[in-house]
Amino acid sequence: EKGGYEHFMLKEIHEQPDAIRDTYRGRLLVKEGIIRMAGIDDNIEKFINADKITIVACGTSWHAGLVAEYIFEDLARIPVEVEYASEFRYRNPVITDKDVVIAISQSGETADTLAAIKLAKQNGAFVFGVCNVVGSSIARETDAGAYTHAGPEIGVASTKAFTTQITVLSLIALKLAKEKGKISNSNYRYHLQELELIPEKVAKALLSDEHIKTVANTYKDAKNCLYLGRGYNFPVALEGALKLKEISYIHAEGYPAAEMKHGPIALIDDQMPVFVIATKKGHYEKVVSNIEEIKSRAGKIIGIVTEGDVNVKNLADHVIEVPETLESLTPLLTTIPLQLLSYHIAVLLDKNVDQPRNLAKSVTVE
Ligand code: F6R
Repeated sequence: EKGGYEHFMLKEIHEQPDAIRDTYRGRLLVKEGIIRMAGIDDNIEKFINADKITIVACGTSWHAGLVAEYIFEDLARIPVEVEYASEFRYRNPVITDKDVVIAISQSGETADTLAAIKLAKQNGAFVFGVCNVVGSSIARETDAGAYTHAGPEIGVASTKAFTTQITVLSLIALKLAKEKGKISNSNYRYHLQELELIPEKVAKALLSDEHIKTVANTYKDAKNCLYLGRGYNFPVALEGALKLKEISYIHAEGYPAAEMKHGPIALIDDQMPVFVIATKKGHYEKVVSNIEEIKSRAGKIIGIVTEGDVNVKNLADHVIEVPETLESLTPLLTTIPLQLLSYHIAVLLDKNVDQPRNLAKSVTVE
């Protein structure tokens, strides 16, 4: 049932091109220039007139929410807040019937997310679910929703759920940007075309698997790792660190690259691998200067870069390339090498990749 792969996690990482295609199938109509999503179409006024969108989720799904915050605000110009469901539910949040709340959950069973939904509904908000498991509690409890259609995710560490959540949320953001007249026709079309190309670009990113294995072998004995990114790729840094922690038990932290100088830079020495997302679009020059700061403190640099990159390659100890795409879609590509890195490190350390200690696939208690 692992389709020839050694672990479910590796199978699910490699399924991402198909999973993303399944997510946008029937929704992304590039030729017609249409995004068709019944859950949005049927409730379009709620979204258009919303004061703000509050996203509630936990763990990896919360990271997908953070990526969505960038894309919703950037393209659709709707204010977005992203909240840990566990904090939202207990802190008397300001939510009214002018709010839209989006709950993101792979399993659809996460207790804190479910409780956050109930609270939002009590306050009159319109609640939209982005779930993977069909018919799950969250899918039933929400007013409307869109499934990710990623297929079953068995590995405890979430992989294809994350990229398909980002895909659904990008579709919604683009649809709302169009409906609100916030995006030019040409930019809208360009986004649809680029989104359609993502599965083949993910497939290309997956071809670095062997190279990533050698990088993993170099850093598998690290005690601490840092993950840095900016803009759209800041949440990817958080997700990269979470993936490493969960399955390899190596301590890792994700940071916005520029925050490093406000504290974490003190940690850097020649024992510290720093994984830096430094793709061409999106603050590239600024990230390059962050890399120079790390290098001057002897940190080891592993750059996640755009194909053909020269500047980071000259500075870094290793680079892993991903294909070029629109800045807003880069998280769908930069996530891939970070998933593979944590997978290979965990395997090399002989850890139980699919069922890491202390973790469960769905967290149905608070
Ligand atoms: C990370 C992971 C967890 C889940 C979190 C939310 O790999 O698996 O952090 O993302 O427990 O779960 P869902 O999305 O099912 O609500």
